[in-house]
Amino acid sequence: MTQISVTVDGMKYTDDVEPRTLLVHYLREQLGKTGTVVGCDTSSCGACTVHLDGRSVKSCNVLAVQADGRTVTTIEGLADGEQLSPVQEAFRDCHALQCGFCTPGMIMQATDLLAENPNPDEEHVRQHMEGNLCRCTGYHNIVKAVLQAAGSGSATATQGSEQA
Ligand code: FES
Ligand code: FES
Repeated sequence: MTQISVTVDGMKYTDDVEPRTLLVHYLREQLGKTGTVVGCDTSSCGACTVHLDGRSVKSCNVLAVQADGRTVTTIEGLADGEQLSPVQEAFRDCHALQCGFCTPGMIMQATDLLAENPNPDEEHVRQHMEGNLCRCTGYHNIVKAVLQAAGSGSATATQGSEQA
């Protein structure tokens, strides 16, 4: 076991983990952050996307020990109380989901894009989101939602982005 200290959604946790434990399993099984989901476990689908020091990573492709001393934001840390983030609002407004399984990862990836480029065009959105797969929507409303969130002009980076 290895001890790690990590700040997740604004709370600091110190835990013992196996060196082989994946970040996504640490978040879900030790912290109960089940908003982050596992779609493939092989870094193909993007469903497990979280922010590590403010930039998106596929948390099935990161070891929990690699998050030691760092800041993680999950889908559960994006809203400010009852106030959804601009990307969350836009996904709701644009009906950018059906089953919702891919949605946490999509929203985290879109938030990462808008932190880097607050005013992307459609092609840039599609490129940035290409590692996130959706079986239901055909992507059209997801792209529309990201462009709407960009147009709101209020998309912000998550905690730690200044360190990226
Ligand atoms: S579960 Fe991580 S990319 Fe699919
Ligand atoms: S909404 Fe079902 S996988 Fe995307």
